[in-house]
Amino acid sequence: MSDLLTVQGLCAGYDGIAVVHDLDLHVGAGEVVALLGPNGAGKTTTLSTVSGLLPVIRGELDVLGAGPPSTRRPQRTARRGVAHVPEDRAIFHELTVRENLRLGGLQHGRDLDDVLDYFPALEPLLDRRAGLLSGGEQQMLAVGRALASRPRLLMIDEMSLGLAPIVVERLLPVVRRIADEADVGVLLVEQHVHLALEVADRVYVLNRGQVVVSGPAAQVRDDAQVLESSYLGSTVL
Ligand SMILES: Nc1ncnc2c1ncn2[C@@H]1O[C@H](COP(=O)(O)OP(=O)(O)OP(=O)(O)O)[C@@H](O)[C@H]1O
Ligand SMILES: [Mg+2]
Repeated sequence: MSDLLTVQGLCAGYDGIAVVHDLDLHVGAGEVVALLGPNGAGKTTTLSTVSGLLPVIRGELDVLGAGPPSTRRPQRTARRGVAHVPEDRAIFHELTVRENLRLGGLQHGRDLDDVLDYFPALEPLLDRRAGLLSGGEQQMLAVGRALASRPRLLMIDEMSLGLAPIVVERLLPVVRRIADEADVGVLLVEQHVHLALEVADRVYVLNRGQVVVSGPAAQVRDDAQVLESSYLGSTVL
């Protein structure tokens, strides 16, 4: 299986100062990879570097076989097949659900059917202004919009932010289905650690910019103590 994303010895951060150090990570087609860790660990920084919003300070980054992304033209990386759902969801509140999906790259009726197949709850909302949707509906729209671009690599930053656990429990299996059915590689940043471990194939735990635990999700799930200590007393578990 060829990797969609290969990261080796990556240092990334802001104004030349690294906050992520010597990161090794890979994501293959059809895989869900969870990137976990406490606040400030470097999860968002990692995703932003992969999508070309932040420059590589040192190390290797290969995205979809095309090398490192262009920081001058991150949209080129997006066009190649990288979709990034950022922490703030970045949907257009004044536009309708349908218009938001169209901006995501939705062109054909078939694409819309695909998105609605994953998120049927969006169908009756298609002509509603996105700003009027609930948090969970907005998150479905954000992921649906990312899907409309038919990505090969999908990165989702804190899908569960502000959502009730029951909503997260419903959304995460959809992410699993997307990986299984569309052969998309998913890099998932998630605060609901236990829920993420249920849908992920593999896991990396970052702390202070370094990988402190990595391995198959099933293995990490079984070793709660290792996971807990990797968070250094954080209460998210
Ligand atoms: N624009 C910025 N300029 C300078 N430092 C930043 C900037 N954004 C984040 N940082 C710092 O980089 C480190 C990693 O932040 P990052 O946002 O990647 O963490 P995170 O793992 O996504 O955390 P959270 O779970 O809170 O979202 C933190 O110490 C943070 O303060
Ligand atoms: Mg973050």
